[in-house]
Amino acid sequence: MLAGPLFAACASTSSETEQTTTTNVARDETPSTRSTIKSTIKSTTGVEAETTEAASLTTIGPDYGGPSFADDVMPVLEQNCVSCHSSSGPGTAHVRFETAAQVATLADFIGSEVEDRHMPPWRLSGLEDVKYKYSPRITNEERQTIVDWVNQGATLDLADDAALVARGQTHPTVEADLVLRPDDAYPDSGQLDDYRCRIIDPAFGEPSWIRAIEVLPDQKPNLHHAVLFKLFDDVRGQAEQLDGSDGKPGWSCPTVPLQAVPLPNLGGWAPGAGPIILPERTGIQMKPGDAFIVQWHYHYDSGPIEDNSGLGIQLATKAELENDGGRLEPLRSVQLLGPVEIPCSRNEQGPLCDRDRAIDRIRQEFGDQAAGIPGFVNRLCGVTPATYAQMIDGQASSSCDLPAPVGHIISIWPHMHELGIGYRLTLNPGTQNEKVLVDIDQWDFQWQTGYSPAEPLVFERGDALRIECKWDRSLWPEGVESRYVVWAEGTHDEMCYTSIGYRRG
Ligand code: HEC
Repeated sequence: MLAGPLFAACASTSSETEQTTTTNVARDETPSTRSTIKSTIKSTTGVEAETTEAASLTTIGPDYGGPSFADDVMPVLEQNCVSCHSSSGPGTAHVRFETAAQVATLADFIGSEVEDRHMPPWRLSGLEDVKYKYSPRITNEERQTIVDWVNQGATLDLADDAALVARGQTHPTVEADLVLRPDDAYPDSGQLDDYRCRIIDPAFGEPSWIRAIEVLPDQKPNLHHAVLFKLFDDVRGQAEQLDGSDGKPGWSCPTVPLQAVPLPNLGGWAPGAGPIILPERTGIQMKPGDAFIVQWHYHYDSGPIEDNSGLGIQLATKAELENDGGRLEPLRSVQLLGPVEIPCSRNEQGPLCDRDRAIDRIRQEFGDQAAGIPGFVNRLCGVTPATYAQMIDGQASSSCDLPAPVGHIISIWPHMHELGIGYRLTLNPGTQNEKVLVDIDQWDFQWQTGYSPAEPLVFERGDALRIECKWDRSLWPEGVESRYVVWAEGTHDEMCYTSIGYRRG
């Protein structure tokens, strides 16, 4: 009964020739609670050039024993923050760190963002046994140094107009052969958080191989993240029917329709993330008629905008193809699903706290197939709802062991929704070869991205992966009726999901 691409994917199978046509990922909206801070910062940064007055008041005194701005703080900012918070970086609309005086003026915000670990937006805890590319990660000591400097008055020991220079590892650039932007810009929807799917059509007339894809954001300050999907020619009609159905380009997609467009996930993009560059001799195979869907998540800080974000695409050269007998090794992807069984906590009540009724609600909203997923994932992972019945203290967690795909790992993209607080992926758990691949102890729906290993990471036949997810019911939104939460695509449903991109051999 429960056959179909999603379920094949659960069992870690992949098709012979291509990316697996597996599940779509449902994405939900998160209302921002931080817009007040943002507007405060905006008014602070509004006086960018004139901030010297405030800063010079804090010029360092002789008996100051705290961290030095020049020696301790500035190098950390230059390494981990400035590439995003200067010139045209994605963080500049919010705060700019171009001179010492700017930093001093914003010190309180910097202190609290760094202390809460919101910034830098790198979610890995550091417990991993694998290094990933382009990580703006600061150590606990560096974090403490910044916080101490702020708490001790944010004094400057160099000139107010001393310039900060980005020194962090920057993303490589892609020389796009094709720049694809929709013909019509998408206007502001008026919602604070707006999820919009758009078809991006490369219109290939012949089979083509893509070597790299770059997200080209247009209205950067309003673009919170993007998720890329490949749209196969044979289901393209279903997506095209949705396109424009509400009178505006694209369609509203807080969740990506699971049945309508089964696509392999190509990865998540968040501000500051670089292009997806595939390893040598690897490509995304596109047949004539194949296209992309990009789910754009807009978070509007300002008035109406029109957005015309797109994709830059680099194709395999003739020489690359000739060297490899006319075809590259295809990028494959596998989707690993772990159980989601989150009972209401003991102080929550309501009819939907009953699991059967909660499943009925999903059936009504998303259909029979969606209502079958929670049970399907449980069977796959050898658990039943009884396994979770005691998790009524407000937190719930689950885990599942699955066979690993065999090959070179290109990227790992974890996904949960808004109740998520922790996520871990472990290779060969409980053995001598155990490796923690991803450990996120402060899940943030707003900053999800794919992680690409910095050194070769190869999964062998017989390797196992353990996916672990953790949720906190105190994050349940106010004003929404409490319910037993299971695996589904809706705004307040949950997922415990990993998409792994890899190549054989
Ligand atoms: C990958 C790019 C990136 C890096 C690296 C980065 N930031 Fe940010 N930062 C952003 C973006 C984008 C925003 C605005 C969106 C948001 O707040 O989620 C932001 C917002 C902020 C804010 C304002 C917070 C608010 O609530 O509006 C502060 C303060 C900040 N960053 C400080 C830092 C510091 C300090 C570092 C380095 C330790 C850093 N950032 C590294 C991209 C980055």
